[in-house]
Amino acid sequence: MKSNYVRIFDTTLRDGEQSPGASMSSAEKLEVARSLARLGVDVMEAGFPAASPDDLEAVRRIATEVGNPSDGTPPPVICGLARAVKGDIDKAWEAVRPAANPRIHIFLATSDIHMQHKLRMSRDQVLRTVEEMVAYAYSLCQEVEFSPEDAGRSDPEFLYQVLETAIRAGATTLNIPDTVGYTTPEEFGSLIRGIIENTRGIEGCFVSTHCHNDLGLATANTLAGIQAGARQAEVTVNGIGERAGNTSLEEIVMALYTRYPFYNLTTGIDTTQICRVSKLVSNYTGIVVQPNKAIVGSNAFAHEAGIHQDGMLKNQQTYEIMRPETVGVTQSRLVLGKHSGRHALKVRLYELGYDLNDDDLNKAFQRFKNLADKKKTITDADLEALVADEFYQPREIYALDGLQVSCGTMGMPTATVRLRGPDGKLQIQAAVGTGPVDATYKAIDAIVKAPSTLLEFAIHAVTEGIDALGEVTVRIQGTNGSHKLDAQKGIEQPRTFGGHGADTDIVVASAKAYLAALNKLLVVTNHFGPAEVPSVQALTVKV
Ligand code: KIV
Ligand code: ZN
Repeated sequence: MKSNYVRIFDTTLRDGEQSPGASMSSAEKLEVARSLARLGVDVMEAGFPAASPDDLEAVRRIATEVGNPSDGTPPPVICGLARAVKGDIDKAWEAVRPAANPRIHIFLATSDIHMQHKLRMSRDQVLRTVEEMVAYAYSLCQEVEFSPEDAGRSDPEFLYQVLETAIRAGATTLNIPDTVGYTTPEEFGSLIRGIIENTRGIEGCFVSTHCHNDLGLATANTLAGIQAGARQAEVTVNGIGERAGNTSLEEIVMALYTRYPFYNLTTGIDTTQICRVSKLVSNYTGIVVQPNKAIVGSNAFAHEAGIHQDGMLKNQQTYEIMRPETVGVTQSRLVLGKHSGRHALKVRLYELGYDLNDDDLNKAFQRFKNLADKKKTITDADLEALVADEFYQPREIYALDGLQVSCGTMGMPTATVRLRGPDGKLQIQAAVGTGPVDATYKAIDAIVKAPSTLLEFAIHAVTEGIDALGEVTVRIQGTNGSHKLDAQKGIEQPRTFGGHGADTDIVVASAKAYLAALNKLLVVTNHFGPAEVPSVQALTVKV
């Protein structure tokens, strides 16, 4: 099926979330799904419903709410992943069926190495299973996608047979994964071309690419697949995913957009939403975007070297192939100051895409005033960090009520922490550590008592200048931790939890980020009820 439209299939919530570091709560997944719908993805893979009852419920909620928009916008396809077994297919169908456009995505490995060592199945058994399971899924759902896992290392002749079988059984999209990121662009392009030329019945189907980035070739391979005739690209926001990640959504979309005269292909993505979705996913997963990451890295549009700046001032196109506004990077530096009022804040936030109700505006204004006392000028980046810190947070089981640290070369770094607990009571603890953040985390641990290991701690300044807001991102893993089933490996993996905090005081930002991650862990392991994100629900983001 060839046209000049490439469908964007986003799998941030499945393949992205499946990577060990990227767990999100159900409320966060729902918020990401809403943002993906605003971004304009054609299909979103909302999860692997057989992983756990929570995963099934999260996909079902996305199918119900995001899969049936009430504002008249076209509903995205909501997809659930299933192994080629009836139990998984039933769960996937239960989860996606409330959507206006549901899809079941079945996968089964076809490379010799996977069939022999993982599946322990012969080629004939694989063919029979594909026929039976795709037909079963098709008896439930009109849209069935089939993926021959590890297609990149599979025998092409066998692949054609498997795909023909899937088409005869009812598959409408055939997705070709380079599961281990092994192929080169020339090879992957030829693989797709060979499939299109040699598979009977493929004319009526969508051919799709699904590349991993182990050799840093995922974007190049996906573009080669598209040039060879694929019209669906499977991607994730920020390229998150197993190991080195998946093809990144923003790179494919902006390559097709910027090089339109070369590719002559379009997507349905509203590119101005790209940066906001990137930040949301980074905040919720705790996976920091590298500064030099194409399109969404903090340096992607910075032109620092003097010679570049000179060229830029004369003509922006000398060093800039995309306008930052096209991907939602706002350029204005000085925005608001100490004397700006509530109305000015409301207007600027609205211009940035945040339409706050009165309560949320009051909270944001209070945060803004506190920040303006410490920082002379407040930029768009500050406002976005402030909104993320105030509204994109998990349910607060424990909230930071006060923090005092003493540190330096003269004594032992000591922190005193005051938290408000789930019963509303204040608790205070002091602790000594190797530094102020370590002392703070020890004091928090003494109150919260949720044993965990800190896997990652990252800090960065939102803007330049000594008075800049500091943003901290952490990732933790519970020691008595919860696990979830990995779709492809078929094993239980430990869950990790990300947290994010912003403040002009980096120790305060660190405490907030750690508490955010601990709150998520508590919701999952101590059954505090759903990890709602109350404020963010009230926050309507202008499209
Ligand atoms: O990489 C892969 O093979 C997958 C499949 C489940 C599509 O993610
Ligand atoms: Zn994958």
